[in-house]
Amino acid sequence: MEAILFKEKSRGKVWLIHFLVRCFATILLLTDGSHAHADGVEMLSNDVDAPPPVQRTDVNSSEVILRDDQWRMVKTRGSQFVIGDRPFYVNGFNAYWLMILAADPSTRGRVTEVFQQAAAVGLTVCRTWGFNDGGWRALQKSPAVYDEDVFKALDFVVSEARKYRMRLILSLINNWDGYGGKAQYVKWARDAGLNLTSDDDFFSDQTVKGYFKNHVKNMLTRVNTYTNVTYKDDPTIFAWELMNELRCTSDPTGNKLQAWIHEMAFHVKSIDPDHLLEVGAEGFYGPSSPARLQANPNTYAGQVGTDFIRNHRVLGVDFASVHIYPDTWMSGASVEAQLKFAQSWMQAHIADAEGALGMPVVFTEFGVSTKARSAFNATSRDQFIQAVYGLLLDSTRRGGAGAGALLWQVFPEGAEYMDDGYGVVLPKAKATAGIMSAHSKRLVVFNSRCEWSCRWGCRKEEEQSETRRMLMT
Ligand SMILES: *[C@@H]1O[C@H](CO)[C@@H](O)[C@H](O)[C@H]1NC(C)=O
Ligand SMILES: *[C@@H]1O[C@H](CO)[C@@H](O)[C@H](O)[C@H]1NC(C)=O
Ligand SMILES: *[C@@H]1O[C@H](CO)[C@@H](O)[C@H](O)[C@H]1NC(C)=O
Ligand SMILES: *[C@@H]1O[C@H](CO)[C@@H](O)[C@H](O)[C@H]1NC(C)=O
Repeated sequence: MEAILFKEKSRGKVWLIHFLVRCFATILLLTDGSHAHADGVEMLSNDVDAPPPVQRTDVNSSEVILRDDQWRMVKTRGSQFVIGDRPFYVNGFNAYWLMILAADPSTRGRVTEVFQQAAAVGLTVCRTWGFNDGGWRALQKSPAVYDEDVFKALDFVVSEARKYRMRLILSLINNWDGYGGKAQYVKWARDAGLNLTSDDDFFSDQTVKGYFKNHVKNMLTRVNTYTNVTYKDDPTIFAWELMNELRCTSDPTGNKLQAWIHEMAFHVKSIDPDHLLEVGAEGFYGPSSPARLQANPNTYAGQVGTDFIRNHRVLGVDFASVHIYPDTWMSGASVEAQLKFAQSWMQAHIADAEGALGMPVVFTEFGVSTKARSAFNATSRDQFIQAVYGLLLDSTRRGGAGAGALLWQVFPEGAEYMDDGYGVVLPKAKATAGIMSAHSKRLVVFNSRCEWSCRWGCRKEEEQSETRRMLMT
């Protein structure tokens, strides 16, 4: 989120039929089960893929990890995520600040708190910054020079996430100035004597690309000081994200950014072929799909150097990312108009992820501000969240590519000073927490019951009766 914004598939069909047959009973029960109540925070006790979150007091990290043979890398199969043979639909959140607060012993506990609160409403994925370049509490103080204490703070975040069975999307750099970003990289190069004139030189200058590649390598090959697990081998990491909200406005053709994505996707995969990779795009359609430009929130969005379809066809990119910010992209529009936009925006991207791309799509940031000048208040914000979940569920029920959404953003109690108007403090926002929890519970059923490789007949009687028990509660 950034405050200053605007001024091939026949194989899939066969699979889909297979999927539908497999999930038939579950789907029937779920469509009937649309009575789930938004009645406050509830613990998930029937989560098969992700057992109930471990309470802090029970945690003994080395023991947990040794017993944890179910903790495997998330992969993709067609336009779904899978863990082993099971589908993995994502309900998650953003918390960009984890490393920063973990770097100070007096605020470190907030990391644990927010994982605990998020796990209690069934969230399983958290997106956060794997960067802080130059400036306050910098991870990377200057090119390839790291503050070991801050890196240890990120180690803590990763280790703590695992305890709460929370997977992380780590973004590797910011497009915006917050926490350094591409401007800081270009500044470093200027300080080293290069004649660079634009922050977009980040995408083309050899020296700057070299700095970034080094950061990628240092991150992926980091050995976690808490767990001894190398980041590139750690299933706690759901995916790498190249750049938060990348844009290259100096080249509206999109060629410059496209070349950068190619080069960096290859670089990431050459070091870490196992983890998933996404680009970090907001999802704007660009010149490669003129018919889709009308789905953009405005004309400018098609001219920022990104191109949803083309960017995601790059080899090595495993899933599509899209942000949903009706209130900043269409400020002044009514709540109804904004909800309508969000709906068509999501439907277009889900259709393209299935049809044009053949990969899952995650709405990696979605949210609306409830601050003074926004069209939204807490009630209509919850309607928005529910609408996003509803559209995803429509996709999930038919085996579509809508793979999940991550709310922007969740804060722990006492961190309200960081709130940009989008913040949700789960224990204080009972209605919102209830909506999130109800959605998580539905996903648990999809995630644990639709096993592709297990033939219908081979299911254990025990498992079936457990399903019945679960769906009846
Ligand atoms: C965690 O496990 C280790 C090794 O089994 C043990 O020495 C330690 O006392 C345990 N810590 C807690 C808090 O249970
Ligand atoms: C820096 O590059 C710009 C544009 O390429 C050029 O006009 C300028 O003369 C260069 N400055 C120096 C000091 O080389
Ligand atoms: C990590 O490795 C070091 C050195 O081999 C060892 O002393 C330490 O106990 C290990 N920690 C864990 C959590 O496995
Ligand atoms: C929230 O906004 C809606 C209009 O979008 C309005 O009808 C409702 O009364 C508002 N609720 C509160 C609590 O202000």
